[in-house]
Amino acid sequence: MASSITDSPISIDDDASSQRSLLGKEQSASFDFVYENGRRYSSSKYSLIPTDETEEERLDLVHHLWGLLLRGELHRARLEGTGERGAEEQPFRVLDLGTGTGLWAMDFGDTYPHTQVTGMDLLEMEHDWVPPNVKFEVADYEEEWEFRHKFDYIHCRNLVGSVKDYAGLAERIYKNLVPGGVVEFQECHITGTYSEDATLHPASTIKQYSKYLAEAGEVLGQPMDVAPNLKSYLEGAGFIDVEVYEGRCPVGIWPRNKPQKELGSVAQEVLQTGVEAYGLAAFTRILGWDSERAKEFCEEVVREFNNRKVHKIYPIFVVTGRKKNETMMPRQAMNAGIVPIGNIGWNPTRNW
Ligand SMILES: C[S@@+](CC[C@H](N)C(=O)[O-])C[C@H]1O[C@@H](n2cnc3c(N)ncnc32)[C@H](O)[C@@H]1O
Repeated sequence: MASSITDSPISIDDDASSQRSLLGKEQSASFDFVYENGRRYSSSKYSLIPTDETEEERLDLVHHLWGLLLRGELHRARLEGTGERGAEEQPFRVLDLGTGTGLWAMDFGDTYPHTQVTGMDLLEMEHDWVPPNVKFEVADYEEEWEFRHKFDYIHCRNLVGSVKDYAGLAERIYKNLVPGGVVEFQECHITGTYSEDATLHPASTIKQYSKYLAEAGEVLGQPMDVAPNLKSYLEGAGFIDVEVYEGRCPVGIWPRNKPQKELGSVAQEVLQTGVEAYGLAAFTRILGWDSERAKEFCEEVVREFNNRKVHKIYPIFVVTGRKKNETMMPRQAMNAGIVPIGNIGWNPTRNW
C-alpha cells in the first residue's frame, strides 16, 4: 500500500518562529486582534487596513512597485549628509513612519550605512536580520511621540487610510525634525484612478469603488482622497520649499513600453489583494454593507483591474518639504544639507 503523507511524523520547522512577522509580539496574544470578513485587523487602533500575512505579502510587493516607480531610488529629496557624516559622532538620523514590514527602512540603512534609521509602527515586527544601523520602535504616530533626538529626514509611504488627522501629523513631523530637516511623503492617489483614452468609463466598477472609498473615509473622518492635498498640509505645518512630484502608475500589462508594462504588471498583482485591503472594512464597518456584498463587489473591481482593455492609471504623488533653518541664509541651507530636487524634477509621464 502506498504510504500516505500522514504516515510519518511531521517534522518541525525550527525556523518557523524566527520568520519575519508584522505581528511580532501581538501574534501570540490573539485578543489583540479582531477578525472580520476573513481578514485580521489590529484591535489597538481598529484600523481599516488588515494586518495579516496576506497584507504583509502585499506590502513587500508594494515596496518593489515603489522601487520601479522611483527607478531604483528610495527617495526623491536629495539627502546630503547620508554619506559624509560619521554614524557615531553626528549621525544622519532617519525616521520611517508606519514602516509596515520595514523593507524601506532596511534598504535605506543598507544603502546608506552611515545613517541611523528608525522604523516606527503600531505593531512590533520580527525580522531574521536587520542592518546594524536600523532599529524598529513601536509607537503611535497619531499621538505625541518622543525620541531622545530629532531627525534629519522623516519618510512616510502609503499611509493614506491609516491617518485621521493629517494636519496634526504634519505638525508632529515638523516638531521632530532638526532645523533644515526634510519630510517626504510617497503616496498613491487611491481614489483617483483614470484612463487617458476613455476606456475607464465614469460608471465603471473601479470608479464606483473610488467613490465608495472616499465616502467611507469622509464618514470616518479619515480621508482617502488626500494625496493631492499633502502639499497644503505640509505648508500649513510651516514647511518651506514644498515640492510636489506627480507620476502615474499603469495597472495591467496593456502598455507597450517595457518598463511601463513591468510596472503595470506589478501594480496589477498588488491590486489582487489591495482592493480588499482598502475596501472590505470600509464598506462593511463604515458603509454598513453585508460581508457578501462587499466581497462580491471587491471581486468585480479586481476583475476590472485585470481587464487589459481598460487602461487604468493611478496618480502617484511624492511631496517633499523642509523645516525652516533660522540660523542659515537660504543659499547656505541649500549647500549645507538636504534640499528637494526641484530642479531636475521627476516626471515619469514625460519619460515614458
Ligand atoms: C499601508 S501600510 C504601509 C507600510 C509601509 N509604509 C510601506 O509603504 O510599505 C500602513 C502601516 O502604518 C501602520 N500604522 C497605521 N496606523 C498607525 C499609527 N497610528 N501609528 C503607527 N503606525 C501606524 C500600520 O500598522 C501599517 O504597517
